[in-house]
Amino acid sequence: MTFFILTLFPEMFETITASSILKRAREKKIIKIKLVNIRDFTKDKHKIVDDKPYGGGKGMILKVDVLVNALETIKPKPYTVLLSPSGKKYDQQKAVFFSRKKRLSIICGHYEGTDARIEKYVDEVISIGDFILTGGEIAAMAVVDSVARLIPDVIHPESLKSESFSLGSPREAWGNLEYPQYTRPANFRGLKIPKILLSGNHQQISDWRRKQAAKRTRKYRPDLIKIDKNK
Ligand SMILES: C[S@@+](CC[C@H](N)C(=O)[O-])C[C@H]1O[C@@H](n2cnc3c(N)ncnc32)[C@H](O)[C@@H]1O
Repeated sequence: MTFFILTLFPEMFETITASSILKRAREKKIIKIKLVNIRDFTKDKHKIVDDKPYGGGKGMILKVDVLVNALETIKPKPYTVLLSPSGKKYDQQKAVFFSRKKRLSIICGHYEGTDARIEKYVDEVISIGDFILTGGEIAAMAVVDSVARLIPDVIHPESLKSESFSLGSPREAWGNLEYPQYTRPANFRGLKIPKILLSGNHQQISDWRRKQAAKRTRKYRPDLIKIDKNK
């Protein structure tokens, strides 16, 4: 899969894309990350990418003509996403949807935002949460990372099955958050791991985890619990 990231700050992606799972996925040539510097697509000698908002107000707006020039150099046109806090909320289901695309363009806004006419040139407007970032770069990294790990051969499929929000696994029936996990030491300053995990009884461990996952979901994310109207 190829990601095209349209940004004013391509250097921000260097560390993230050169570390951990993204690094390995790039080395294995499962993913490619192409950074497109929006500033290269200005037509004036001062390379101006932004301007004052029509109607007045503070801040600067990224220019639609510059953004479209940048978008139109990517051929054939990939599935295209604009990052904005006023977009549709991003989630694991959307990550799965994006992971099935061969090519994905992501536009990172900056300053006060982007000229709204850019929405006519994109397939979706996506927000990574109800908070404001300075620019779309961190949001783009979150999208790239969450999508890349779902692409076959990037990580072991068994690891994906048991994660929070996983789809099509027993977890769906269990509640959507992951159960609590522990590793050695078994006793840390008097904090002992649940005895059941040392029992070696896989069925009992599995039942315990199912209950813990449901408990955790009720506690932290009751909004994830789907009500079965047939019951
Ligand atoms: C400072 S923000 C602009 C905020 C805008 N004035 C508003 O109130 O909605 C600049 C850019 O950061 C990105 N951004 C900020 N928060 C985001 C979020 N929660 N999800 C996705 N992108 C975000 C967008 O690309 C946005 O254009």
